[in-house]
Amino acid sequence: MKKPSFSVQLLSIVSGILIAFCGVSIQSEEKADSYYTTKVPSRDGIGKVYMGREISHTVSAHAIRWLERPEREGEENPSQVMDQLELKGDETIADIGAGSGYFTFLLAPYVPEGKVIAIDIQQEMLDFLEAKKKLHKAANVETLLGTIEDTKLPENSTDLVLMVDAYHEFSHPREMMESVVEGLKPGGRVVLLEYRAEDPSVPIKPLHKMTVKQVKAEMTAVGLEFVELKDFLPAQHFLVFQKPTNK
Ligand SMILES: C[S@@+](CC[C@H](N)C(=O)[O-])C[C@H]1O[C@@H](n2cnc3c(N)ncnc32)[C@H](O)[C@@H]1O
Repeated sequence: MKKPSFSVQLLSIVSGILIAFCGVSIQSEEKADSYYTTKVPSRDGIGKVYMGREISHTVSAHAIRWLERPEREGEENPSQVMDQLELKGDETIADIGAGSGYFTFLLAPYVPEGKVIAIDIQQEMLDFLEAKKKLHKAANVETLLGTIEDTKLPENSTDLVLMVDAYHEFSHPREMMESVVEGLKPGGRVVLLEYRAEDPSVPIKPLHKMTVKQVKAEMTAVGLEFVELKDFLPAQHFLVFQKPTNK
């Protein structure tokens, strides 16, 4: 049989590589897309559905004054949140979806031997946080610009991830939580504060609230273990999860 010419051989090698490459990219597209479906967007939603929940709009940096409102102490009882976190003082904490840093600067004095990394996807939030850091002389606060899919935390580096009123608005919750798990040390904790969706008297837009059932389903889907639910807050759930110690 006649041997194919060099140019024919080269063409078949190149097309083989191209087919293999496209196959990989199509597969990863399919994998990512399979987590989500779409619907006609609700008033406060983006029309993207994850595990039966429509994702809410992101709160913009225009809301910094609202996030910093002094009434939060009465409405959300953050001082009690600090106590319930049971911090030892040397932890590395990531405040993900930190916004203006309302919780970041409450946390900082509780970890004098550790640090708080405030992560957000909006540079305006981080600029505000940096200004506040100077004002508070909070040497153990760092800021980190994440992406919609990636916390940017180093692997196995974090003792506690805190997400206050933030997780429900992550546009890529699955990828974000996989990144959170990667960034946690084995046995590290995830604490979520979310407004109670089971309670119609909580005066917050529906997609900015979550049920315990929904949070548990979404956290265990990425391999986190449920630890406890502490319902001591006026309007929010306080949910604790853990990265397995053998991972
Ligand atoms: C409602 S604010 C809450 C801010 C803060 N945790 C608080 O309680 O004051 C939610 C924040 O999450 C941020 N965010 C949304 N998606 C994010 C993501 N994938 N990674 C990090 N931050 C995100 C938004 O930019 C916004 O600043």
